[in-house]
Amino acid sequence: MDDLSAEELWEVLNFAVELKRRMKGGDRPPMLAGKVLALLFEKPSLRTRVTFEVGMLQLGGHATYLAPSDVQMGSRESVPDVARNLERWVDGIMTRTFAHSTVEALAEHAGVPVINGLSDLEHPCQVLADLLTIHERVGEVRKVRAAWVGDGNNVCHSLLLGMAKLGAQISVATPKTYGPDSKILARAKEIAKGTSGSITVGTDPQEAVRDAQVVYTDVWVSMGQESERAAKLKAFSGFQINAALLARAAKDVVVLHCLPAHRGEEITDDVLDGPRSAVFDQAENRLHAQKALLAKLL
Ligand code: CP
Ligand code: NVA
Repeated sequence: MDDLSAEELWEVLNFAVELKRRMKGGDRPPMLAGKVLALLFEKPSLRTRVTFEVGMLQLGGHATYLAPSDVQMGSRESVPDVARNLERWVDGIMTRTFAHSTVEALAEHAGVPVINGLSDLEHPCQVLADLLTIHERVGEVRKVRAAWVGDGNNVCHSLLLGMAKLGAQISVATPKTYGPDSKILARAKEIAKGTSGSITVGTDPQEAVRDAQVVYTDVWVSMGQESERAAKLKAFSGFQINAALLARAAKDVVVLHCLPAHRGEEITDDVLDGPRSAVFDQAENRLHAQKALLAKLL
């Protein structure tokens, strides 16, 4: 997320709004005619795969899907060699990896843009869609009071950086040992200083959601953490987004979740399916936000 300046972030979001409006009117500008994006996955996906494939198609280009078992970066072939092959054929690479260092290595060795479609450290494309959703549902992002309740994970990291860049207020509540990465937090606080944003981090969900206009959560056990499941379920038991917790937020609070959701764990069915939930808008907005990003990078 930090690779985009605040100006570039606004540029992408504004163009996403325009592309969305034009698409609803039947206009699909073929801005990427003849361009090809490689989709290089180490983990499963519904939203990321489909929105990048459909997005490239709608822009007149093509996406080529590479499943986790196809390329096997680091075992069948080294990451730098994968990058040096792909750059000869395609105009950009979108990748979903276990280690964030794999995304960085691809970017270092490929002469084409590399987009992070989720790593263990960040999920910036998700947050582009989330910022668009907040803009649509709540209004000016820079005045928004948001809360993150749950794991201080990849989505939380990108959200902290993105909200700080746009000057919003965000309050995070996680169990003590599952807070956000200290480097990301320090960087987000530094950005927020320059944008009049604010970031607070604590361990009390009720305090974090007080008067919040946006409440965001994600799964407690991310992809790659399956062996930590029992310990995490125990640690997160008081961090569920449910009607009682939401009663402390602003009356018209908007509930966000990047999906997939583990219903009954981090969020209840009534909240996820209720009138406050914007989770399927978020999923739709992956398409529009990523098309704007692709148009800029490719
Ligand atoms: N939110 C998200 O990235 O979904 P997928 O894991 O299905 O791509
Ligand atoms: N934090 C989750 C997000 C899934 C889109 C994970 O990394 O599995």
